[in-house]
Amino acid sequence: MLRHIVLIKPQLGVSPDGRRGLLMAAALALAGVLAGSGVRAENTTGQPDSGLAMTRAQAYARAAKLEALGRKMFADPGLSGSGKLACASCHDPQHGFAPGNDRAVQLGGKDLTQAGFRATPSLKYLQAAPQFTEHYYESEDEADASIDNGPSGGLTWDGRADRAREQARFPLLAPFEMANDSEAAVAARLRKASYAGDITAIFGPAVWQDDAKTFAAATEALEVYQQNAAEFYPYTSKYDFYLAGRTKLTPQEARGLALFNDPDKGNCGNCHRSEPADDGTPPQFTDFGMIAIGVPRNRAIPANADPRFFDLGLCGPLRTDFAGRTDYCGLFRTPSLRNVALRRNFFHNGVIKTLRQAVTFYVERDTAPAKWYPRKADGTVDQYDDLPARYRDNLNTEPPFGGKPGDKPALSSAEIDDVVAFLNTLTDGYKPQP
Ligand code: HEC
Ligand code: HEC
Repeated sequence: MLRHIVLIKPQLGVSPDGRRGLLMAAALALAGVLAGSGVRAENTTGQPDSGLAMTRAQAYARAAKLEALGRKMFADPGLSGSGKLACASCHDPQHGFAPGNDRAVQLGGKDLTQAGFRATPSLKYLQAAPQFTEHYYESEDEADASIDNGPSGGLTWDGRADRAREQARFPLLAPFEMANDSEAAVAARLRKASYAGDITAIFGPAVWQDDAKTFAAATEALEVYQQNAAEFYPYTSKYDFYLAGRTKLTPQEARGLALFNDPDKGNCGNCHRSEPADDGTPPQFTDFGMIAIGVPRNRAIPANADPRFFDLGLCGPLRTDFAGRTDYCGLFRTPSLRNVALRRNFFHNGVIKTLRQAVTFYVERDTAPAKWYPRKADGTVDQYDDLPARYRDNLNTEPPFGGKPGDKPALSSAEIDDVVAFLNTLTDGYKPQP
């Protein structure tokens, strides 16, 4: 399955101001359309959605219409059981498609009082997420590509969907999110939508004869919209301009970058890759690897009121195919750090509220655990309190982690400030001085 390679390739040489990105958006949408409908591009007999091939021009036109439809659907609260919750309510385009509020978990459901138990991720730069695999082979040593980096990729914090169209089912049907009872309920809402005519125009009237088809049309449109480069992966951060030689980092940002990459200091770049790929693809600030870092339990999440409940990521409960894999418990997918400065809550359970605290947690998890974890009844620190003791061998202990209480942290307070200054260069929309 080469899908992601197909999606990544067209970004080559995208300039930081994203002008080529716009063209690429169409190309990517086209790739999605072609992949989705199985059409061949060079055939000229096509009718929209007839299952027959269409010309390249027809495919582009269809992709543009799908994208416009997907954008309308994304912003439509009418697609939810409450009538008040759109995709954009949680994934706010003004905040890098992450929430604009500081709630760790957003409220949904039919009456907008139901909470899930995960923080809402940004939807930017997901075009580069490879499909989920348990064995991701890659090595920094060019000659040796045989290192198994373990489980990687997929969408959501536990990688349980491979394509945006599969993923869209979750929020549309989750009782604590958009709370539709069934695909048929979504289809009924689409029939009443102001853009129902657009759906007919793209898919033909037959799309309404079968609720599963109507639902599939909707998730396809949402997927194509999320492949729009200008909105979802514009590469317009200060760091992109810096990589293109069009701006300079301040001395503090440059120090932060060096600390970010230094294997003995931040070592952040080991997982949040900061360098362009060999083929020139801009850095994604994640390798999409699944890692257990043991963030503190978030007691503000209602599900956590039950002391027996744990969100263990890859081994469940939302993901079910690795339920017996104790070596996978506590692992979550490494998120991109692009636009991370726009976030108001951090990590899979949103327990940490500022970027500076998020960076500080890394260097103090093992050296000053009492600052991060509560105390048990006997007064000892309940370190790693959101991961049952039997899974703690899964925790990552390489720098910036490691050491024991009282040891010197891998980054000093001033160095943490430098790393945060660097992370602030990863926000899209930078305008260089002319
Ligand atoms: C109630 C808030 C909420 C709504 C509404 C919502 N989402 Fe999400 N979204 C989330 C959360 C929470 C996650 C993380 C889920 C997980 O890890 O299991 C997520 C994850 C995602 C992801 C995967 C992101 C990644 O990093 O891999 C995509 C894509 C996505 N949502 C798209 C959508 C679309 C499309 C809609 C509308 C149909 C939507 N979401 C509606 C909260 C929401
Ligand atoms: C061993 C791999 C690894 C290293 C090294 C690493 N991270 Fe992470 N990072 C992760 C994973 C995995 C998560 C998500 C963990 C979770 O939510 O449970 C994450 C999450 C984050 C988040 C939260 C982002 C969000 O969207 O909520 C920030 C901020 C972050 N890392 C910054 C850093 C910085 C800064 C460094 C270096 C000081 C660093 N990371 C080092 C793997 C790593």
